[in-house]
Amino acid sequence: MKKAALIVGARPQFIKSAPLILELGRFYKTVLIHTGQHFDFSMSELFFDELKLPTPDYHLNTTGGSSGRQTAKMIEGLESVLAFEKPDFSVVVGDTNSTLAGAVVSAKLNIPIVHVEAGVRSKDKNLPEQINRVVTDSIADCFLCPTQSAVENLKKEGKVGNLYDTGDIIYDCLRIFEKNIPQKPSIGMDLPDRFILATLHRAEAVDNPDNLSSILRSLSLSSLPIILPLHPRTSKMIDRFDMRNLITDNILAIEPVGYLDILSLLKSCEYVVTDSGGVQREAVFLGKGVILPRPETEWIEFVESGWIKVRGYDFEMDGTFDTSAFDCVENLLRPAAAEMIEKLKDLF
Ligand code: UD1
Ligand code: UDP
Repeated sequence: MKKAALIVGARPQFIKSAPLILELGRFYKTVLIHTGQHFDFSMSELFFDELKLPTPDYHLNTTGGSSGRQTAKMIEGLESVLAFEKPDFSVVVGDTNSTLAGAVVSAKLNIPIVHVEAGVRSKDKNLPEQINRVVTDSIADCFLCPTQSAVENLKKEGKVGNLYDTGDIIYDCLRIFEKNIPQKPSIGMDLPDRFILATLHRAEAVDNPDNLSSILRSLSLSSLPIILPLHPRTSKMIDRFDMRNLITDNILAIEPVGYLDILSLLKSCEYVVTDSGGVQREAVFLGKGVILPRPETEWIEFVESGWIKVRGYDFEMDGTFDTSAFDCVENLLRPAAAEMIEKLKDLF
């Protein structure tokens, strides 16, 4: 049996690895490597427990330090593991520092790279996610794209072979776990009858005091309560900028929640304010409109169909959405992981 190395390290990658592991495991011996990028219980172990993911074969414990230092530790750790395991190919997912480290080390060891969520692009070349995506795609060998627009982006960059539109892995996760979504999430409090769900963590939003204060002030003007599971990065920056006073009484800031709980919150909220790539799409798949507190989104299909309103850091809490059903996004709604493995079987 051929061997795949699946490299993960951040919250969205644990979630996305659930359908991937299931499908990869049918045809390949899969070595699961956790870089340690995310390390709090509620950002890592929680997902291994609730999604019944296998214990990683390797945990690199790269916790802490600056982004560069942590990425360097990942590169060092991955080099030893991949040189020892000699997989037939590596699978990297999305656009985090773990994606970048996995791709760079694999390329240096001549291990073919499969990129899940390839071809996703933003206009701002300075975003950390954009840098990670562009570098990864520049050295990847197989491009598993969530949308046709992602395929087109890669073609414009001169890619010609092994480009596949496989549908969105985020939809696949939702499809698999939808039946397990609890009626009421366990978030340590009673849910208000009507509420808005918000999540916030992008560096360009929360590391910049002007942008962070604009977003928090916009949220504070909501007439409905807001449930805000706080990403650790956001929590740290709120403290660093001394902005706890901007968390007004209508903003219920809680710890990050598990995957099934966030899906439950998404199902019962009125609408969503989020800068998360994953939560944007989950919201739409569950029929909820999204206000995007960023100047742009990579998920342009959802803007065209009216589900996402791109508003920037200052926005009105206006919950009216002009949606055109799922016309523009229905191509994404497929069993993505199974389609991905069909493509891989032809290559490895
Ligand atoms: C990373 C990804 C981002 C992705 C997000 C998903 C990069 C460059 N960015 O952003 O694309 O959308 O994950 O959540 O890879 N921290 C903790 N505990 C944790 C995790 C992080 O305290 O469990 C703190 C870190 O110490 C650090 C900060 O949060 O100070 C940022 O963490 P990092 O992993 O660098 O980036 P994210 O903002 O999580
Ligand atoms: N998520 C979660 N708990 C939370 C917030 C998000 O389980 O408190 C899930 C969410 O459902 C989605 C994924 O984490 O599947 C998105 O991760 P995140 O927002 O951290 O990163 P991004 O998608 O922007 O890279």
